[in-house]
Amino acid sequence: MTDDYHDWALATRAVRVGHRRTGEGEHSEPIFATSSFVFSSAAEAAARFSGAQPGNIYTRFTNPTVRAFEERLAALEGGEACVATASGMAAILATCIGLLRSGDHVVCSRSVFGTTTILFNKYLARLGVASSFVSLTDLMAWEAAIRPETRMLFLETPSNPLTEVADIRALAELAHARGCLLVVDNCFCTPILQRPLALGADIVIHSATKYLDGQGRCLGGAVVGGAKLVGEEVLGVIRTAGPSMSPFNAWVFLKGLETLALRMQAHCRNAAAVAAWLETRPGVRRVYFPGLASHPQHELAEHQQSGPGGILAFDLEGGREAAWQVIDSTRMLSITANLGDAKTTITHPATTTHGRLSAEEKAGAGIGEGLIRLAVGLEAVDDIRADLQRGLASL
Ligand SMILES: Cc1ncc(COP(=O)(O)O)c(C=O)c1O
Repeated sequence: MTDDYHDWALATRAVRVGHRRTGEGEHSEPIFATSSFVFSSAAEAAARFSGAQPGNIYTRFTNPTVRAFEERLAALEGGEACVATASGMAAILATCIGLLRSGDHVVCSRSVFGTTTILFNKYLARLGVASSFVSLTDLMAWEAAIRPETRMLFLETPSNPLTEVADIRALAELAHARGCLLVVDNCFCTPILQRPLALGADIVIHSATKYLDGQGRCLGGAVVGGAKLVGEEVLGVIRTAGPSMSPFNAWVFLKGLETLALRMQAHCRNAAAVAAWLETRPGVRRVYFPGLASHPQHELAEHQQSGPGGILAFDLEGGREAAWQVIDSTRMLSITANLGDAKTTITHPATTTHGRLSAEEKAGAGIGEGLIRLAVGLEAVDDIRADLQRGLASL
């Protein structure tokens, strides 16, 4: 039932792709909660293991529920292959282990998720992969940082937490002209708002933990891209090293994808209303949100994304004391580092998600002490604003 999805709109793909109904006639996708699969004979087992016969062997290799999630996300991103992983970080690690070798060099945006920076700076450095960090939006800096041994450009757009927007098409052209791969973490936008592969990127990364789930239940990740790079190289790492997605989590993500298009529209609407309101509040120095005309890459975001997304950040004049005061005055918003949830979350990046960065790295990434990140959820906008207003009014 899913072979003709190329004619379908994204909203339809998010609901329908990937489910092959079993003989039981189930309507909702089943969870194949099994670690291994049985064979009808020793000869069939041998044929599966040798690769002569396709089919399931063991859930670290393939699982029908995980496969359904992979097919659905591949169809949404427009990729030939998708490999599901145990977390977003496992997706980034598997991509790097699969595609990089000792002696290679990576150019990475300075404004990526803090743990991604540590992965490059500490752990991949130990394996002989060097990294340079550049301003996400400075195309000339990307170009200048590329060396003969550079193999990969890595970025998130919009960035976390300052929502800077990179020109994916321009960076893809640069990467390919210099023999590099462009890898885009599409966690903030999801394929509903932005499709990096169509803009020339080679690989898309997801932390499915965020919007793909949408209700903060499970950890998961995915890598989407070409049959060779992702379907062979990255898949090989997952199968061998083992950070595979569990069938239960894949099922949760399949259910999450069914409402993704609707949810993303609602997240965008709510975030736009909160961002515009925050811009009028005394004590707020600056609001970072791609949907605002004041955002430096507003036009690019309008062109590249079909919506501004649900994440915004704002900087308070009173520094850390003011930021903590606003956070601690909330009664409804969740003080948690996660994002992409139906529940609005509020975070102080300098002491949480980006807390392990050095003072120099924080300064480079523009993470000030007065900065608050909001991942605007699906509650009524008036209630979100009222919860923030309590702290803002007390500054
Ligand atoms: C943009 C981005 N990429 C990747 C990750 C890592 O994902 P996970 O927590 O699923 O490992 C996160 C997590 O917060 C993130 O915000």
